[in-house]
Amino acid sequence: MAALLLALAILSLVAVGIGGGHNVTISILDLAVAKGAVCLDGTPPAYAYSPGFGDGIDNWHVYLQGGGWCPSTGSCLGRSTIPLGSSAKLISSNNGTQFFTGMLDNNSTLNPDFYDWHVFRIFYCDGSSFMSDVEDVHNLTYRGARIYDAMMDELLRIGMGNAKNALLSGTSAGGLATILHCDKFQALFHNTTRVKCLSDSGFFVHGEHFMGADWRETFFFGVVSAHGLMNTLPTSCTSKFSPTLCLFPENLVQDIKTPLFLIESAFDSYQIGQNVFSPSDKSPRWANCTHNLIFCNWTEIKIMKDFRNTFINTLKSTITDSSGYFIHSCYRHGHMEDIQGSTCSSLVGNNLANKTISQAVGDWYFDRSGFQEMDMLNDLPRNCTTTDDEATFEKKCSDYYMP
Ligand SMILES: *[C@@H]1O[C@H](CO)[C@@H](O)[C@H](O)[C@H]1NC(C)=O
Ligand SMILES: *[C@@H]1O[C@H](CO)[C@@H](O)[C@H](O)[C@H]1NC(C)=O
Ligand SMILES: *[C@@H]1O[C@H](CO)[C@@H](O)[C@H](O)[C@H]1NC(C)=O
Ligand SMILES: *[C@@H]1O[C@H](CO)[C@@H](O)[C@H](O)[C@H]1NC(C)=O
Ligand SMILES: *[C@@H]1O[C@H](CO)[C@@H](O)[C@H](O)[C@H]1NC(C)=O
Ligand SMILES: *[C@@H]1O[C@H](CO)[C@@H](O)[C@H](O)[C@H]1NC(C)=O
Ligand SMILES: *[C@@H]1O[C@H](CO)[C@@H](O)[C@H](O)[C@H]1NC(C)=O
Ligand SMILES: *[C@@H]1O[C@H](CO)[C@@H](O)[C@H](O)[C@H]1NC(C)=O
Ligand SMILES: *[C@@H]1O[C@H](CO)[C@@H](O)[C@H](O)[C@H]1NC(C)=O
Ligand SMILES: *[C@@H]1O[C@H](CO)[C@@H](O)[C@H](O)[C@H]1NC(C)=O
Repeated sequence: MAALLLALAILSLVAVGIGGGHNVTISILDLAVAKGAVCLDGTPPAYAYSPGFGDGIDNWHVYLQGGGWCPSTGSCLGRSTIPLGSSAKLISSNNGTQFFTGMLDNNSTLNPDFYDWHVFRIFYCDGSSFMSDVEDVHNLTYRGARIYDAMMDELLRIGMGNAKNALLSGTSAGGLATILHCDKFQALFHNTTRVKCLSDSGFFVHGEHFMGADWRETFFFGVVSAHGLMNTLPTSCTSKFSPTLCLFPENLVQDIKTPLFLIESAFDSYQIGQNVFSPSDKSPRWANCTHNLIFCNWTEIKIMKDFRNTFINTLKSTITDSSGYFIHSCYRHGHMEDIQGSTCSSLVGNNLANKTISQAVGDWYFDRSGFQEMDMLNDLPRNCTTTDDEATFEKKCSDYYMP
């Protein structure tokens, strides 16, 4: 778990400082305390808000931060001492500001469809994808669902209820939270508001016939148990499946009534790196391979190819016709808060209707056209890290994996 958190922290650092972006002051929602809506360590939850302007004045983009989950009391206790479990730690580690980039950017060139919207980024400090609501308080407070509700109250207070357009989005655990909260979000608005949801790298597959299924289930069982999610997960799912299975989007998306868009890599680096082998089965070889694809042997690449097949088949069998999706083959996890996340995929996107992720999302959001594209041509993962200069990056991104 520590390694996982570290990896996510590095991912978010790498995203900072590349092309565009602006800093937004982090605010603490003190009002939430009275509602029992607090982080794992008991501190009030935090958000960063960049007001809309011009033609975007009636448009609201609410973004849910991700960052894994804590599947046990011990790991939640650990998390309560870092920014993902404590606003106090968040403020001290970020100097009180959050960098807005990618699809949160206010630059019209870099984010043409959403740059002038109100952008409200909700920090993640509950470890349960904003789903926990446990009454008992010992040393830790499990109150993610209350945090979500308190933030919605705040958004309505500052004017979101009159939105013409509204978008709920999130990455990773925030992408899963988006799926779980999507219809509830839509219910906040008049029926004249265009409301849609965008889940980025939030489709964590169960893949019951693919290696590691037991481990993936054990992990989500831990999350459900530690956070008491049996009673907060959607009843449309829990009436059919065990609560553990109701954290897997393949058992959730059919029931969502609000239009939903998925941005995914068929070689999701988090799922391949973390969820295929249990911690005790992970070999140093596998770590080498998942950190740098040139160290993979063909057995390992075969595992990745099989993951891709499982992922694509699961998605195809569960996604509804009204949904949109952009499924590429760059080996990565998370796109929205990283301008090159979309750049990379736009190269792959030559097979994906020649659109960048943000163009695809914009076209779908504004009903200019639907978008349902999967890269079916490339069945090998590509390295799409963002640490290189532009030319190296583009070359690597357009190359196939070569052993
Ligand atoms: C945002 O803040 C970081 C550090 O807090 C700083 O390094 C960076 O230059 C700032 N970026 C902009 C665009 O102001
Ligand atoms: C935070 O501010 C301190 C002092 O102002 C500075 O040394 C440090 O580099 C800053 N950290 C970040 C992440 O911007
Ligand atoms: C927006 O981004 C473009 C491309 O990076 C840059 O040339 C332009 O100066 C930026 N505009 C503003 C207002 O920062
Ligand atoms: C983007 O936000 C930053 C920080 O609030 C501000 O300085 C800048 O002028 C904004 N850019 C545009 C194009 O509104
Ligand atoms: C709560 O914290 C106290 C003091 O840190 C510790 O002694 C106690 O064992 C903790 N209780 C639980 C249930 O973790
Ligand atoms: C929207 O709601 C109003 C009043 O609640 C109702 O009269 C109208 O038919 C609804 N429109 C649609 C498209 O559902
Ligand atoms: C992992 O890669 C390093 C080189 O980066 C190599 O020295 C090491 O032996 C590799 N470990 C395994 C288990 O393959
Ligand atoms: C991608 O390439 C960079 C170097 O260009 C390397 O540091 C990184 O480990 C590679 N990532 C993967 C997943 O192969
Ligand atoms: C390839 O990797 C697998 C799994 O990590 C390992 O069991 C196997 O020995 C490796 N094969 C070769 C030829 O190195
Ligand atoms: C892809 O789009 C770009 C710009 O939108 C255009 O210049 C290019 O010709 C397009 N390529 C193909 C193969 O359609």
